Amino acid sequence: MKLIAGNWKMNGSLEANDALVRAIAAGMPPSACDVALCVPAPYLAQVQMLKSGSKLELGAQDVSQHAQGAYTGELSASMLREFGVRYAIVGHSERRQYHGETDALVAEKAKAALAHGVTPIVCVGETLAQREAGQTEEVVKRQLAAVIHVNGHCISEIVVAYEPVWAIGTGRTATPEQAQQVHALLRKQLAAATAHAQSVHILYGGSMNAANAASLLAQPDIDGGLIGGASLKAPDFLQIIAAASA
Ligand code: PGA
Repeated sequence: MKLIAGNWKMNGSLEANDALVRAIAAGMPPSACDVALCVPAPYLAQVQMLKSGSKLELGAQDVSQHAQGAYTGELSASMLREFGVRYAIVGHSERRQYHGETDALVAEKAKAALAHGVTPIVCVGETLAQREAGQTEEVVKRQLAAVIHVNGHCISEIVVAYEPVWAIGTGRTATPEQAQQVHALLRKQLAAATAHAQSVHILYGGSMNAANAASLLAQPDIDGGLIGGASLKAPDFLQIIAAASA
């Protein structure tokens, strides 16, 4: 079954979330794929309530690598768990870029999430300059290798999201063939580390929308999507869910 995860980023309000989550819950097809909403932390409790009785799962957008302690501003995996959080995005390119998150830190965050029953959605992806320099394979492999190294036999429990940085929020999507090529590489890398690589969800993210979702999701190694902008509009998000549930 495919997984569609919405990444609201720093968007939303009590009022807007109420309308959005109700509309998504009401419009879910009867045999929907797995769907998660990764919401800003202050809204976890609100969305936990709003989604009750639906198939929607709750996600966070980040998690601390630490279990507890003097880490002002951070959120631990066990705190997230208390609010019914099932997924946490780790290593999103915006956090790598604006908060200096390294491959090693992202790997530790994935480990902290797994230790508390939260599934990390590990983001990897190259910048435009890296793609143009022919470094795509090297970059995504290095990013995933760090997570495999630290998480060992638990690696089949993670979700991977391939998000080419040049496609995020730009309206410029990777072609299905470009995405599939990288997804196949990531699958091969996982297969060298676990016998269960085939069941690991590898999501595509970066300007996935109602119009292009079906062709991306038709690729053999694209197991779902991580959706930013289009996850804030119920009709668009529901169309992507429908495409993934077909
Ligand atoms: P986008 O964002 O769908 O708005 O491109 C995807 C993401 O950053 O997860």
